[in-house]
This record gives sequence, structure tokens and C-alpha cells, in this order.
Amino acid sequence: MKIIIGSDHGGFELKESIKQFLSDDIKTDIYDAGTFNSESVDYPDFGCPVAEKIQSGEFEKGILICGTGIGMSIVANRFPNVRAALCHDVYTARMSKEHNDANILVMGERVTGKDLAEELVRVWLAGKFQGGRHQRRLEKIADIEKAICSAQVEGIAER
Ligand code: RB5
Repeated sequence: MKIIIGSDHGGFELKESIKQFLSDDIKTDIYDAGTFNSESVDYPDFGCPVAEKIQSGEFEKGILICGTGIGMSIVANRFPNVRAALCHDVYTARMSKEHNDANILVMGERVTGKDLAEELVRVWLAGKFQGGRHQRRLEKIADIEKAICSAQVEGIAER
């Protein structure tokens, strides 16, 4: 499995250490979508390419990091089929996979230390979606996405 990872400047240092962790400990291939240094950038510019590649199915799992994780989760969850979970502790990281089948893990470098962040990645990657009633709930979210998209298309057609 290859994991796509991205950050803004606020998440750059943590991105670099998570990349190291993924390749050394988890032994997974990584596609780094940037940013590539700590110069100030805008988080949507780096969240969008990651979310797009998850939406399209090019990648199954992604990791996004900014200062708090909030901006990246707002951006990523704009994309259909993306379920981005901002996690701060091991319990939410595990539940984000078991109940929500999160396909992007989001973290905040300014709120989550390196060791805990590695543990969140480990737990999220090892988690198994439980399906059942949780699948039904995800289907409802997919229905909402479809309804919003088709209402927008109808709105455009009526203009
Ligand atoms: C950048 O200063 C910061 O606003 C960004 O990394 C993120 O925390 C936004 O939600």
C-alpha cells in the first residue's frame, strides 16, 4: 500500500517525521504532495491534491497535517468520498477507522507531539472498518453528497 501525505508549513516538521516513521517502522511507500519546506503557504493548496487523489481512488489512504489539523480537515471533507478525521488521541484514531472508515487521517503539529502522532498513524492504519450499521450511515452521507451535487447541477441548468 502507498500512502499519500501532505501538509502546510504548520505541519511540515511533523510530516517529515511521520514519513520517516512510515518508511522505517510501517514499511510503506509514500507519495509526498508537499509542502517541501517551512515557508508560509496556504493549507488548501496542499490539502486539495491529497483529497483529490483519495476521491479518484488513486490512493486508498492519506495523511494531512497543518498547525491545528482544522484547516486541512475542512478542505478535505469538501471532496465526495473523502472521510477525513481530525484525531488527537488513540481512541478517536481507532474509532475513525472502525466506525467512520476514515480514508484520511488529519493531525495538528501544534497540538499533537511526534510520539503520539506516530501512535495515531499506527492505530489508524491497523484499524478495521466494522461495517453493518456504520456502513448504512456512510451510505447516508454518500446520498447527501449526491443530493447536493444534483441540486447544484439542476440550479446551473435552470439559469
Ligand atoms: C497556519 O498558520 C495555520 O493556520 C494552519 O496550519 C492551520 O492550523 C489551519 O487550520
